[in-house]
Amino acid sequence: MDNNKRPDTMERITTKALADAFIDEQVAAVRAQVGDKKVLLALSGGVDSSVVAALLVKAIGKQLVCVHVNHGLMRKGESEQVVEVFQNQLDANLIYVDATDRFLDLLKDVSAPETKRKIIGGEFIKVFAEEAGKLEGISFLAQGTIYPDILESDGVKAHHNVGGLPEDMEFELVEPVKLLYKDEVRVVGSALGLPDEMVNRQPFPGPGLGVRCLGAITRDRLHALREADAILREEFDNCGLSEKVWQYFIAVPDFQSVGVKDDKRYEGWPAIIRAVNTVDAMTATIEEIPYPVLHKITDRITNEVDGINRVLLDLTPKPIGTIEWE
Ligand code: XMP
Repeated sequence: MDNNKRPDTMERITTKALADAFIDEQVAAVRAQVGDKKVLLALSGGVDSSVVAALLVKAIGKQLVCVHVNHGLMRKGESEQVVEVFQNQLDANLIYVDATDRFLDLLKDVSAPETKRKIIGGEFIKVFAEEAGKLEGISFLAQGTIYPDILESDGVKAHHNVGGLPEDMEFELVEPVKLLYKDEVRVVGSALGLPDEMVNRQPFPGPGLGVRCLGAITRDRLHALREADAILREEFDNCGLSEKVWQYFIAVPDFQSVGVKDDKRYEGWPAIIRAVNTVDAMTATIEEIPYPVLHKITDRITNEVDGINRVLLDLTPKPIGTIEWE
């Protein structure tokens, strides 16, 4: 039997009862596979790796070692949430690595988007491999592979994802959600007790804010981007758009314009709002954000975020614009 093929008879997991049955089945399967050995997992805080972590904590408790690498390009509060949920609430074995300086030092003065991606991806593997090398007795590597990853054998996700280990580190894989579609992974995550904001998290690129802080990243502009993005998310939560819009974020380009603040000349960067809807991210349409919401967001970002003096709205569908700016 092909282990990577979803059986035609497998029911779509849409309810808590079906999710619970799946969880029981996988807990038993993981215990049988792993025995008393240790399993390593790169926990990004995204839906897939979070659900795998919660499932494995249930199955094997402290035999699971999670490593969360904060590359300094996470959204506001995300790394903190990973620590809160997994270390404090689920009592998981979590190694938190703040590698912000390593990443930002390497990215200094680098403006080509693909070079930025390569640096972030390469350094991520390096940091993760270093942590793995410090651990003893790891026999398995858990991964949040889901069924679309297997179906998209053109390697789109492989190319997108920053995770993964060098070829010479060989572990047997544990992939408990590899036959599930995304919506099922979310139902399973809720059944495992993960918070809604984690389970319903919008897609977030592996290189994170690195591809939204356009051009060569500077710490002050990255900070401004993170704060502006947090305001956008808060206001989308307040007006219900966060439940409706597929992906929304701020991009901050590396040029300034003239403005005026407190009667003085105020040069600042623009914050660009992007809010798109799509089914498969291959094409995307623009969400029509009500003007009062746009005014509120503009007002808050320009008043609360140091360094931003204008707010712009990106109205470009994909094609011709990609979803991300880089
Ligand atoms: P684009 O910009 O190509 O994005 O229209 C399509 C979807 O893919 C996400 N994306 C990435 N995801 N690493 C990732 O893991 C990346 O380098 C990357 N670039 C784009 C993007 O956020 C959107 O959901």
